[in-house]
Amino acid sequence: MGMDLQEIERDALAELDRSASLPEIDAVYTRYLGRKEGRLSGILRNLSALSDDEKKRVGQEANKLRTVLEERFAAKQKSLKDAALDSAVAGQRVDLSLPGTFFGRGNAHPILETIREIADIFGNIGFRMVEGPEIETDKNNFTDLNIPENHPARDMQDTFYIDRKSDDGKPLLLRTHTSPVQVRIMKSMPPPVRIISAGRVFRHEATDATHAAIFHQIEGLAVDENLSFADLKGTLAHFAESYFGPKTKVRFSPSYFPFVEPGAQMDASCFLCGGSGRINGEVPCNICKATGWIEVLGAGMVNPQVLRNVGYDPEEVSGFAFGIGVERIVMTRLQVRDIRLFLDSDLRFLEQFS
Ligand code: FA5
Repeated sequence: MGMDLQEIERDALAELDRSASLPEIDAVYTRYLGRKEGRLSGILRNLSALSDDEKKRVGQEANKLRTVLEERFAAKQKSLKDAALDSAVAGQRVDLSLPGTFFGRGNAHPILETIREIADIFGNIGFRMVEGPEIETDKNNFTDLNIPENHPARDMQDTFYIDRKSDDGKPLLLRTHTSPVQVRIMKSMPPPVRIISAGRVFRHEATDATHAAIFHQIEGLAVDENLSFADLKGTLAHFAESYFGPKTKVRFSPSYFPFVEPGAQMDASCFLCGGSGRINGEVPCNICKATGWIEVLGAGMVNPQVLRNVGYDPEEVSGFAFGIGVERIVMTRLQVRDIRLFLDSDLRFLEQFS
């Protein structure tokens, strides 16, 4: 029996030495110390067949061996677990001396920057910023602005319609300009009014270097007693000088918008050809179509019919309004050759303005 125990100890330790993983150790454990089939447990189970003296001696030795083996198994298990943990930690070691990853700070889109800058320019002379929705009623976008249904003036701005109707049964639409904000504001408050409003507008039209189907406008509106065209011109001259600086030339020319009378447009000298209409004195400029000027805004005195439509009395108050094409003025100042670049979200383009 003593020989048996020595053999069990030798075999068990040899097999334990050869085990290289936890499942292997478990298997060896079961073979030698397992309750049902373990070789050592077998000896303890068969003690009853021995004499009393033998029973005592073998029992003691077997239990001693069990304790020894249990310890050796536990030690080997621990060393394997420690090794596994060490190698996992080594694989994930953080080198605190490495330089950190730099996540560059973003910056506002040039269109948003421009809107903020223009809001400041007009804010300084008393214009308050208000908001209007991009989805509008036909009435606010057209009819109340003196562009009646079936009137040829509707051809000036083709739009996108929404598959939903407003209270008057007409389909809702994407606003073609920020002018409906004029209607909303005048209907919501008595004069005097002095507001600007910025946002996206949508037109169903072919795109080219200076025309986009989605672009931004800034609307301006002032209504008070005795406002005249001189107030409009003075306000826009102040804006042009503040925004473009003294070098860029601006000019006013008559223009037609059904919601103003008289109406005007303000052009800025072309950034590419410097206003000559030709590049290097030869090739016709494709930005200003060889005219030397880029139209940047429409403006005029609020048509008395619009004042009546919103419940104001044109005998008591008069007003002026303007609509600035934001992309156009950014193009003029920053010399951007294609309006579509603003919509592309190409960082190589946008990062130039950071
Ligand atoms: C209007 O939208 C009028 N609501 C402006 C106005 C307001 C006039 C108040 C009078 C009183 P117009 O369609 O011309 O007008 O557009 C105004 C400006 O938006 C233009 O001067 C131009 O700078 C810009 N713009 C017009 N169409 C486009 C386009 N497709 N892409 C980019 N900019 C455009």
